[in-house]
Amino acid sequence: MLIRRKKGWEIAERDVTPESVYKNRRQFLKGIAAGSIGAAAISLPIGRALAQGSDPTADLYPAMRNPAYVVDRAITDKSKALTYNNFYEFGSHKFISDAAQAMKIRPWTVKIDGMVEKPIEIDFEDLVRKMPLEERVYRFRCVEAWAMTVPWTGFPMKALVDYAKPLSGAKYIEMQTAEQKDTMPGLRQFWYPWPYIEGLTISEATNELAMIATGIYGESLPKQNGAPLRLVTPWKYGFKNVKSIVRFTFTDKRPVSFWEQLNDGEYGFWANVNPKVPHPRWSQAQERLLTTGEEVPTQLYNGYEEYVADLYKGMEDEKLFM
Ligand code: MTE
Repeated sequence: MLIRRKKGWEIAERDVTPESVYKNRRQFLKGIAAGSIGAAAISLPIGRALAQGSDPTADLYPAMRNPAYVVDRAITDKSKALTYNNFYEFGSHKFISDAAQAMKIRPWTVKIDGMVEKPIEIDFEDLVRKMPLEERVYRFRCVEAWAMTVPWTGFPMKALVDYAKPLSGAKYIEMQTAEQKDTMPGLRQFWYPWPYIEGLTISEATNELAMIATGIYGESLPKQNGAPLRLVTPWKYGFKNVKSIVRFTFTDKRPVSFWEQLNDGEYGFWANVNPKVPHPRWSQAQERLLTTGEEVPTQLYNGYEEYVADLYKGMEDEKLFM
């Protein structure tokens, strides 16, 4: 984001999968349950079978899709969403998916602290089994002007806030990514302000759209996409969507995020999507869809205005869109 090299999204992308080709795994499983000929003979891909063997939460997927969140765009080809990533802990380019496999995600302890009734430390597996998991298809818009549409599995962030029992003075939640010096080569790039942190106001975090994702495409999250848990706020630029979270801190002070610490002239706290407010170095009017390469107009709040515009009433003096 900060370093201006040839952008990954300038590379030709021809592996297009139209929406009609995308298959919901539930349909597939239903087919097996119904004993339909053919379906039972299809074996799971090797990667998937291995993941099932080693992932103690594999039984939670796929979760039921919540039909309330409809996107009028094709779902991005899974192979694209899982191999074109931003995760600077593993390198400041898009192709970190292999490197990210070194990350250790078990055991994974999540801390909830700061202005809460009682600090909590909980194992990820215990946490995820307490939460109401569902699938939601959301648009995703990176500040670099590429976009995708993906089915996330996870739980409303409000459920986590309720579980945390914040004190009445808490106004923000700061979220922090793991720092694994032995598996994350990016941490050696000392000019970045590690750890990666991000923040939301409590009213943003309890908005119905805000989600903690633990899965994608009907399976648990792969490491490169932020396993075992990450933030998803579809009305904000992608950099808000902090990955591989180890800590949620409730506070009355506005967190200064990783990118804001690096360059507050280009990246702010709010980071809401707005086609009319350009990044200082490029336009935000259009976005490039990951699978097709098609350029389409960007929408205010990434198309989620009806859900979130009220959050920002009376805040016209704030830099809401950077
Ligand atoms: N979280 C951490 N810890 N480190 C990162 O570098 N990159 C952010 C966000 N979360 C990032 C992160 C950015 S810039 C984007 S666009 C999204 O992750 C990309 O998510 P994806 O790789 O699942 O598409």
